[in-house]
Amino acid sequence: MKVMVIGSGGREHAISWKLAQSSKVDEIICVPGNGGTFNETKCRNIEPSECDYTTDVKGIDSYVQIAVYEQVDFVIVGPEDPLSEGIADQLWKCGIPTVGPKSAGASLEASKDVAKQFMQQHNVACAFSKTVTDIEEAHGYIEEKGAPIVVKADGLAAGKGVVVAATKEDAHKAIDDFMANKTLGDAGAKVVLEEYLQGVEISVLAAVSVTKESASSGKATILPFTTARDHKRLLDGAKGPNTGGMGAIAPVQDVSPEQWNQFMETCLNPTLQGMIAEKMDYRGFIFFGVMLTKEGPKLLEYNVRLGDPETQAVLPLMDFDFADLCVAILDLDNNGSLADFTCSWKKGFICAPVVVSSGYPAAYKKGYPISLDTNIINKNGATIFIAGGIQKDSNLVTSGGRVLACSAYGDTFEEAWKNSYGALEGVHFTDLFYRKDIGLPGAAESGSL
Ligand code: AMP
Ligand code: GLY
Repeated sequence: MKVMVIGSGGREHAISWKLAQSSKVDEIICVPGNGGTFNETKCRNIEPSECDYTTDVKGIDSYVQIAVYEQVDFVIVGPEDPLSEGIADQLWKCGIPTVGPKSAGASLEASKDVAKQFMQQHNVACAFSKTVTDIEEAHGYIEEKGAPIVVKADGLAAGKGVVVAATKEDAHKAIDDFMANKTLGDAGAKVVLEEYLQGVEISVLAAVSVTKESASSGKATILPFTTARDHKRLLDGAKGPNTGGMGAIAPVQDVSPEQWNQFMETCLNPTLQGMIAEKMDYRGFIFFGVMLTKEGPKLLEYNVRLGDPETQAVLPLMDFDFADLCVAILDLDNNGSLADFTCSWKKGFICAPVVVSSGYPAAYKKGYPISLDTNIINKNGATIFIAGGIQKDSNLVTSGGRVLACSAYGDTFEEAWKNSYGALEGVHFTDLFYRKDIGLPGAAESGSL
């Protein structure tokens, strides 16, 4: 099979790496890919702006042209933006099976208001909230409810659209920023004001196969993966500014079987029923951002894709063929649907700290050569997933804030932690920085202010 992976981050490197292990996959077209996929077996990067056959089109249209030109068997869409722009609808129209929801499903991430309406309508356990489009009404609601309160811009904002406000002043400022000063453009024109939830967070990634046919045959499925946890704050002890993710672990040991069952009952199953009721054509992945509160698990958000950096911790634990999983999600030949698929997992743990450029998430420098000492990395059984790194001549050089994740396995979490941090001794570039406490007690965001 020939598979196309859209995206350029660490998640897409991990997806391509896992696909490459499948004997059924001959070639992986990475659009545009990065320095990690450039060096990965079976992978070929294609930069749309450098293709002579995509000169008349830009953005998702160029991705569709590449998929058609390359005659790929299916496409996996990594990030949310092309999904919200309707790339899955377009690819299916061209006859190209696509792992990633069509636009109706994609709006569960593209609009916080749509997501909240969906949760409320289908009885998904979540925080109480109110959507506002009028700035005075927003200020009035904050005065009425007080702080802490969470202010969420409705649209996609690359992780900058949520303010957990400890004081009313912070909440009012967020409203002024989003709605009056338009710091996020149109994404902040509508705002969701949400009850503040206290607890610890987990991420549940899952495969989804919901179509008209599977809904009527009773085979519509959301198949959850092993649990994971991201660490979003920049500094040890969950301090400092929010980032795109400073490291992930899987599975999470502090989720009790009771909490898991509650999650299935009050978050996952109602989501599946909601997708069926709304007749969504959703074949892809979904990410449940969950707060484990005293009253039980509550859904903070959906992402309509795999999480980054959780993917870099979850995929290495998969003891099954990722291409088989994608074929089951797509249910192409109606033999072996996702409802019949069993995920088997390696027994141990993954710790995957992320290495960033100093200065991130604010300004940082790019273009430093990345040196990877394979002896040290291999001795610790680690895999490096490149995020912000590109191949320039014969060098891998930094090109982003989050540069790479160092993902290592261990039979126990302690061993995984030791292996990943041991392997990091073999990773060098100028001014690198990483958290030292990924997965340790006190490292998780607690939801407390
Ligand atoms: P998001 O950008 O939507 O992933 O949200 C960013 C972070 O904001 C989440 O990972 C949580 O840590 C926090 N958050 C979102 N909603 C709430 C809430 N209702 N209560 C407390 N924290 C929240
Ligand atoms: N780790 C959360 C995300 O992918 O947005």
